[in-house]
Amino acid sequence: MSAEREEILAQLAAHGRFLASLGSVGVSFPKAGPALPPVAAPAVTAAPAVTPGGTAVTTPVVAAARPPAGAEPAASLESIRETIGDCRRCGLHTGRKTIVFGQGNPNAELMFVGEAPGADEDEQGLAFVGRAGQLLTDIIQKGLRMERKDVFIGNVIKCRPPQNRNPEPDEIIACQPFLEAQIRAIRPRVLVGLGKFSAHWLLKTAEPITKLRGRLGEYEGIAVMPTYHPAYLLRNPSAKKDVWADMKVVLQLLGRPVPE
Ligand code: URA
Repeated sequence: MSAEREEILAQLAAHGRFLASLGSVGVSFPKAGPALPPVAAPAVTAAPAVTPGGTAVTTPVVAAARPPAGAEPAASLESIRETIGDCRRCGLHTGRKTIVFGQGNPNAELMFVGEAPGADEDEQGLAFVGRAGQLLTDIIQKGLRMERKDVFIGNVIKCRPPQNRNPEPDEIIACQPFLEAQIRAIRPRVLVGLGKFSAHWLLKTAEPITKLRGRLGEYEGIAVMPTYHPAYLLRNPSAKKDVWADMKVVLQLLGRPVPE
């Protein structure tokens, strides 16, 4: 194990912040270190109930606030990108063309977190620019009536896995500090977790995405809405109504008008 990877694992242990989701893909961790102090409660008071069929029942949801800035100044997105450098912290660097850092408004109120870049993203160096990205654009523009440039779009891992396979635990761990730092830099009011890997990363759970979607969670005091990945919607268009239900809750969290 490289010294750098050892350091990342040590940091994770020190923070007691292990990815519960990784248990589901077969990784066991050393014993957790001291727990972090409790994070501020999310600024939402009512989570939508989920019916057994999975459709979120929207109840009035109070607008979410930005989490307070931490005591230490957060690293800027530029410096996080600089720290990533020409990353070789996991094996994905051998097959990638570009590191897909994520893009958008550095002060976004809304941040989407996907899984990993695909071929188009690897080619262009931008998150969600392929077919799934086009659907995400529709969700943002037609559904939320926002512009892509106003939100921030990132991923759990920043390099394309070969043949678009699922990210491996060591790859998620290697990238974890950078997504954490990005979220601390942006401090969005709402995080949308797109698909299983993102939902597991944000919510530190291994529950199936079918159970998680539509139920509000929390990441470091930020409201989290887990929902289906746009690539899943391409294969299962009937699930779009569920994502739309989730986006209506996101609009409420942002204090924006919710169309019928
Ligand atoms: N799927 C993802 O999860 N992220 C991307 O950037 C593109 C497709």
